[in-house]
Amino acid sequence: MGAGPFYGPGFGLLEERDPEVAALLLDEVERVRGGLQLIASENFASPAVLAALGSTLSNKYAEGYPGGRYYGGCEVVDRAERLAVKRARELFGAEHANVQPHSGASANLAAYAALLQPGDRMLAMALPHGGHLTHGSRANFSGRWFDVASYGVRRDTELIDYDEVRDLALRHQPKLIVCGATAYPRLIDFGVFRGIADEVGAWLMADVAHPMGLIAARAIPSPVPEADVVTFTTHKTLRGPRGGGILCTAELAARIDRAVFPFTQGGPMMHAVAAKAVAFGEALRPEFAGYARQVIANARALSEALAEAGMRPVTGGTDTHLALIDVRGLGVTGAEAELRCAAAGITLNRNAIPYDPEPPRVTSGVRVGTPCVTTQGLEPRDLREVGALVARAVRDQESAADVRDKVTALLGIHQPYMDQ
Ligand SMILES: Cc1ncc(COP(=O)(O)O)c(C=O)c1O
Repeated sequence: MGAGPFYGPGFGLLEERDPEVAALLLDEVERVRGGLQLIASENFASPAVLAALGSTLSNKYAEGYPGGRYYGGCEVVDRAERLAVKRARELFGAEHANVQPHSGASANLAAYAALLQPGDRMLAMALPHGGHLTHGSRANFSGRWFDVASYGVRRDTELIDYDEVRDLALRHQPKLIVCGATAYPRLIDFGVFRGIADEVGAWLMADVAHPMGLIAARAIPSPVPEADVVTFTTHKTLRGPRGGGILCTAELAARIDRAVFPFTQGGPMMHAVAAKAVAFGEALRPEFAGYARQVIANARALSEALAEAGMRPVTGGTDTHLALIDVRGLGVTGAEAELRCAAAGITLNRNAIPYDPEPPRVTSGVRVGTPCVTTQGLEPRDLREVGALVARAVRDQESAADVRDKVTALLGIHQPYMDQ
């Protein structure tokens, strides 16, 4: 290695020192290259992001914030965090950004800790209607520690019922209203939520873990002007490292910072903070706007092709990067559809649809998303083909080998990490 510059190890070193782990890293690249990745919450982070993640910044303890750490030797990682915060604020037009949350769930935990006391009441979207576990599910801390009222979508339109949200808010007088979802294909009207929150004197939090990349690119409206607190992840549409973040008003900045550290987290992962800075920098470039628009165009093309093949998109389509598909028209459950697609080289996840008669492990739906395939370079005409292949794999188990061949042919010129 010598005494030259060293930012982090090359892969050859891992192969030499631990061939077992090196082999599984190679297998994972082969897996993603060998099939279609339609998981809506995943993406392929750039090599620059991965390089920052694999750096020696992982070693540094830096409890606290830039200029106010509880460890010495933080002058370099302070620069990394200041850069990430500056870029996040610029990208999202936010008064304050905290880039330390380890994940989306950690960001939500900290946001609740900043705004609520145990036992306080909050209003959020129900998990079976598209909300996240951290929005008040009994299986999660949020449902145990807070008094949660839940809103859902209408049975006829499958869209958020804003009248119900307002009625519930007036009845329950929550201290916090949460908007944002994990399986909702349409735009959320943050202005309407702001109005309801103001009417009952509640804080408004937007959890945009999923569409934050589309928001960064201004491809869909931002919650920043409306919400008191915005939580997000950096690894989904934003295409950064696995991690979370929080944006808030200047008024809440100190409360949010204290809620992240020391209240809910210890030392930040400075390699991840540096990688977030890289991802924000990438999202600030003009090309990222084109990427985000293509993600949405691809999701629309996929959703339309699935509809034509008898797989019904919940709400009739999508405005974002994901579609939720009712698979009952093909006589299968979500779990069966997931398995059949896997056999054909297509990775997606089963997902409950609103008013689903099946239990969560079975479901009547699948969720599909286009962040990965768009990063790979697929276009709407490719996604129409993908839709037809998904439908064929789901309808006819015998077609798995043939569909897999077609997937391989489609991906031949569009493999992730091809030119690196
Ligand atoms: C709306 C929403 N919030 C929070 C999270 C949690 O993010 P993480 O898995 O990084 O904890 C997710 C993850 O899918 C999500 O969809």
